[in-house]
Amino acid sequence: MLPMSFNHPSSQLQTLNKPKNFQLIRNAFLSIQARISVHPYLCLFTSFLFIQALVFLITHTAPPSLPIRTFNPPPVAAVLSPDECRSGKVYVYDLPPMFNKDLLASCDDLDPWNWQCGIISNDGYGRRATEFVGILPGNLATTSYRTNQFSSEVIFHYRLLNYKCRTLDPESATAFYIPFYAGLAVGKNLWRNDTKMRDWHCEMMLRWVLNQTYYQRANGSDHFITLSRITWDFRRLTDPLKLWGSSFLNMPLMQNVTRFTIEKAPGDDYDVGVPYPTGFHPSSDSDVVQWQSFVRNRNRSSLFTFIGAARGSIENDFRAFLLSYCYNESDSCRVVDCAVTQCSNGTSAILEALLDSKFCLQPKGDSYTRRSVFDCMVAGSVPVFFWKRTAYDQYDWFLPGEPESWSVFIDHEDVRNGTSIRDVLQRYSGEEVRRMREKVIESIPRIVYARPGKGLEGFRDAFDIAVEGVLRRFKEQKEGRGVYAGEVGVRR
Ligand SMILES: *[C@@H]1O[C@H](CO)[C@@H](O)[C@H](O)[C@H]1NC(C)=O
Ligand SMILES: *[C@@H]1O[C@H](CO)[C@@H](O)[C@H](O)[C@H]1NC(C)=O
Ligand SMILES: *[C@@H]1O[C@H](CO)[C@@H](O)[C@H](O)[C@H]1NC(C)=O
Ligand SMILES: *[C@@H]1O[C@H](CO)[C@@H](O)[C@H](O)[C@H]1NC(C)=O
Ligand SMILES: *[C@@H]1O[C@H](CO)[C@@H](O)[C@H](O)[C@H]1NC(C)=O
Ligand SMILES: *[C@@H]1O[C@H](CO)[C@@H](O)[C@H](O)[C@H]1NC(C)=O
Ligand SMILES: *[C@@H]1O[C@H](CO)[C@@H](O)[C@H](O)[C@H]1NC(C)=O
Ligand SMILES: *[C@@H]1O[C@H](CO)[C@@H](O)[C@H](O)[C@H]1NC(C)=O
Repeated sequence: MLPMSFNHPSSQLQTLNKPKNFQLIRNAFLSIQARISVHPYLCLFTSFLFIQALVFLITHTAPPSLPIRTFNPPPVAAVLSPDECRSGKVYVYDLPPMFNKDLLASCDDLDPWNWQCGIISNDGYGRRATEFVGILPGNLATTSYRTNQFSSEVIFHYRLLNYKCRTLDPESATAFYIPFYAGLAVGKNLWRNDTKMRDWHCEMMLRWVLNQTYYQRANGSDHFITLSRITWDFRRLTDPLKLWGSSFLNMPLMQNVTRFTIEKAPGDDYDVGVPYPTGFHPSSDSDVVQWQSFVRNRNRSSLFTFIGAARGSIENDFRAFLLSYCYNESDSCRVVDCAVTQCSNGTSAILEALLDSKFCLQPKGDSYTRRSVFDCMVAGSVPVFFWKRTAYDQYDWFLPGEPESWSVFIDHEDVRNGTSIRDVLQRYSGEEVRRMREKVIESIPRIVYARPGKGLEGFRDAFDIAVEGVLRRFKEQKEGRGVYAGEVGVRR
């Protein structure tokens, strides 16, 4: 599948096999749009969904992921302490295979959206990418995969089975992991006009979990799960005209369960935003350090880049505006127009553009968030945001504080009103850009998913940070200290 970030042009869509129920998707999308007017944040998400759907349709191949890596002295304690499991251990349920493995196997069900089959290879990391061999030095090319942006539930499962703080004894566990592939279970039914099907696996799984002593003990409040799709795909509204997604997160039994998701609902602390998987998956500390050094020393000839496609279906699409702006500013801006370039199918153009640019423009995608943000940072380019919700309130555990130290914010309305992106970016001195880039580069280990089941030796990656955060949260909760719902929460 494509990185969400690199949206497929609608023209491209038309040439692809349109699903029989294309109209249905469109209706769902419109209903989402309607929903937006109800919940402001839903809007984004709605368009996002539609786009997702489109992307889905379009991309049956694994998305070209960006390779990435880097980083030097880890910001926060990067080296694991001897007492590695001091926040406790995780028990991973052995769910019936219908809730995970079988969902991977039944790719035939997904036609014409059989891109999910790409998730299966390499434990969820996807097929190896071969297109970067000429771009990445030495063994860095071997760290690149065509990772599906919706594969986090498979990756987290794999990593947890191999986790150093996993326990086989539920009595000794601080946290319980439910390895249900909700994104796949729901995703394969998102574009079918059958809401019951979108909820079926979810309901069956909850029935199974409810029967577990350890779930009953705390009403699920020491349980967690990964949703590989955005949270909005699991919060269907009751209005019959706004029937996007599943009702999974509306189900009472899920209320106290913590969920990792690539886009969280603001104000719901049971949602924890985790980075989209990119295509860079280091196998060792040395891969990380080499990658960081590679992107740090890169000569960046363009001031900024924009990678994406206009969404013909969206009126006043900001991406179309940026595309036009970027073409007009071709002295400073490097365009990768996904209506022209096959962004979803193993191209090196995206990585090269990011590596060669000081800044990268990150409008919202079909929802507020976008995988491209992570592709950008992994390539050592400084992200420029136009909506605060694209990253600032989403990934607190992973991204540095002080947004201005590693990113640029230009309100989308100001851009519409004539603020020149080029002028704003040119005002940063070479030294200021270097400092921001260094912050970005330092973050790389925290936003990537390392390949080894046991993780890296010296760096904590996104998986480690997410799971340790939940363990700490549950431990504090047990001790009567932590508070959910907007209070303490787990911070970096
Ligand atoms: C979906 O199915 C319901 C009931 O089967 C039907 O009333 C409705 O019109 C369908 N919606 C679309 C968009 O096809
Ligand atoms: C619940 O657990 C009991 C005892 O392990 C088992 O006999 C029963 O079939 C389970 N029910 C469900 C719905 O899984
Ligand atoms: C679980 O929920 C039930 C019903 O809401 C409540 O009565 C019970 O006290 C809760 N248990 C715990 C441990 O919070
Ligand atoms: C969630 O947990 C609280 C506190 O343990 C409990 O009162 C509540 O009933 C739980 N909710 C559900 C749906 O079990
Ligand atoms: C970057 O450019 C400088 C000066 O133009 C050159 O000395 C240096 O070797 C280049 N670095 C790389 C990695 O190409
Ligand atoms: C780009 O230039 C064209 C032709 O001058 C103009 O019509 C268009 O509005 C410009 N786009 C932007 C975003 O400024
Ligand atoms: C993607 O690339 C592969 C090989 O590079 C090619 O066989 C396949 O047809 C391409 N798919 C699309 C949709 O372009
Ligand atoms: C943009 O311009 C419009 C019309 O001139 C104005 O109403 C609006 O407040 C401006 N927005 C911002 C953010 O300056």
